[in-house]
Amino acid sequence: MNYARNFNARNFKARNFNARYISMRLFQSAAFLFASCLLISPLVAEELPLQKHDTVARSILAKMTTDEKIGQMIQADTAGLVDPKDVADYHLGSILSGGGSDPAAGNSLQNWTQLYESLQQRAVSTRLGIPILFGIDAVHGHNNVLEAVVFPHNIGLGCSGNADLVQEIGRMTALEMRASGIHWTFAPCVTVPRDERWGRTYEGFSEDPDLVARLGVASLKGLQGDNVSDPTSVLGCAKHFAGDGGTIPGTGKNGWGWDQGDTKVDEETFRRVHLSTYPPVIAAGALTIMPSYSSWNGLKCSGNKYLLTDVLKKEFGFEGFLISDWEAIKQVDPDFKTAIGISINAGMDMAMEPTAYREFYDNLKALVQEGTVPMSRIDDAVLRILKVKAAMGLFADDYDYRANPELQQNFGSEEHRTVARQAVRESLVLLKNDGTFPVDKTAKRIHVAGAAADDLGIQCGGWTIDWQGKSGDVTSGGTTVLDAIKSSVGPDTEVTFSADGAGAEGADVAIIVIGEQPYAEFEGDNKELELSAENQAVVQTVHDSGTPTVTVLFSGRPMIINESLENSDAFIAAWLPGTEGLGVTDILFGDHKPTGKLSFTWPRSIDQLPINHNDGKTNPLFPFGFGLTE
Ligand code: GLC
Repeated sequence: MNYARNFNARNFKARNFNARYISMRLFQSAAFLFASCLLISPLVAEELPLQKHDTVARSILAKMTTDEKIGQMIQADTAGLVDPKDVADYHLGSILSGGGSDPAAGNSLQNWTQLYESLQQRAVSTRLGIPILFGIDAVHGHNNVLEAVVFPHNIGLGCSGNADLVQEIGRMTALEMRASGIHWTFAPCVTVPRDERWGRTYEGFSEDPDLVARLGVASLKGLQGDNVSDPTSVLGCAKHFAGDGGTIPGTGKNGWGWDQGDTKVDEETFRRVHLSTYPPVIAAGALTIMPSYSSWNGLKCSGNKYLLTDVLKKEFGFEGFLISDWEAIKQVDPDFKTAIGISINAGMDMAMEPTAYREFYDNLKALVQEGTVPMSRIDDAVLRILKVKAAMGLFADDYDYRANPELQQNFGSEEHRTVARQAVRESLVLLKNDGTFPVDKTAKRIHVAGAAADDLGIQCGGWTIDWQGKSGDVTSGGTTVLDAIKSSVGPDTEVTFSADGAGAEGADVAIIVIGEQPYAEFEGDNKELELSAENQAVVQTVHDSGTPTVTVLFSGRPMIINESLENSDAFIAAWLPGTEGLGVTDILFGDHKPTGKLSFTWPRSIDQLPINHNDGKTNPLFPFGFGLTE
């Protein structure tokens, strides 16, 4: 046997065997690799939501001059614009309409749409044609615009506990906003109010961070939809980062109050109560976050690099951009230029400078030129802004900035009002009932008492048409409780009304509606939380008449109600329900059972405050989670 040949053959065979073996092993390892990729792919960090927009954003950034980059980081107010030409001349990245900055032509859907489109048209006509982001506080519907559906404020939604409903409200709000073209709202507010004397308590869902996170995520998902570039989606903004609801008395903007004050807690408490609502909303797709006016242990959040950069951007992985609150940067340092340098270097990306936007522009240019603010920080901020705009489809070839007229047909529609009416129903909390509730809608005579029964402005609260809101007929398309009662009772039932309660004697039942006068922010800080003398008097008057009484309270928070509660046979907390008063009568007349549960602990006396569940304090008037069903 020719070994050589045989050897060769053997070798060949062996080689062949080896080759086969090797190819089999290769196949097996390839198969293993493929399978393991399938198995571990979910474990591999999914691409961050803005990663895919990095290339487009960088290509635009590369074309931008320093002036254009600095302008991109500035948001002016529509009413603060010195000249509309400044949108182009200062390369503004954003415009807002703050509370009360209505179109000069008057408050209507058409005029809001024209205002938005006219400013956007200026932006897209610039050298690079970068569209502006137009922001507004649509915090309980498109609440700045007449005839919009105004939904319950967050405190009521917190008592509903219904995340699906909150998401649906976000959808409806987005649809009504996009009807005007406006595509960015400074919502959801994911504050965790810990002291009801704070004027912004009603903007919070709850004193409980977990409930706040759950409903904040739902709201954001409703606003942004499945894709924030969808023409019926709007960009959300989680706020106010962080600890806005934990400030201590006497540190507030007004000198004695809470709003914009100082949250003095250790880091464990700060993280557990006030930071914990942000990772969930970031995971749910939050692309803008608004740092708080308030301070943490004496340091303004708007200038706190540890919070804005180390915690929010690095630890929590936030990829979007930070928009300052209204002139909040000015509070960082007495010198504006110094404040700008501190805040931008701390991680602020866009400055809400409603009127001082030109000064801000000049100061930031100087800070960059002198090296106080490195260009790398400017590029990082602008890149974040551009990636968000790319995610919204603002750079798509077919991007059309104009409002969609089809959406205008459903603005303030019955469909939207039906969702709002359900939200009202589910937000009401029955605190007391000796059997007088529900009210028989076929009773011979129902006496309605209290100015708030016929006041849509009190029913809606702050952030409604005007920044502070106001009492009276603030908008059209809504239903007061008095009108709702009249439209709900049978033909043989007489409905009488008096603001002061007179004339209740002899009626089968009295429905009293009392409420706080509307307020927003620091204007709502309140040391006592007592019902007004007028409110207490109307309850007393009706009580003295001997007529069985159901009292409904419109308020932005739990209040000290002991005497009025005592003087009422049944008592309902209705919060700030918005335009759809029929949601209140749905419950009053028993067409729907009350399901609302307190999302805030209700204090028995003012000296108990702050009082929150699990804080070791005892004997509230009503505990967190309380709510009767009949
Ligand atoms: C206000 C509020 C903030 C709002 C902003 C724009 O001062 O603090 O919640 O989004 O200014 O109106």
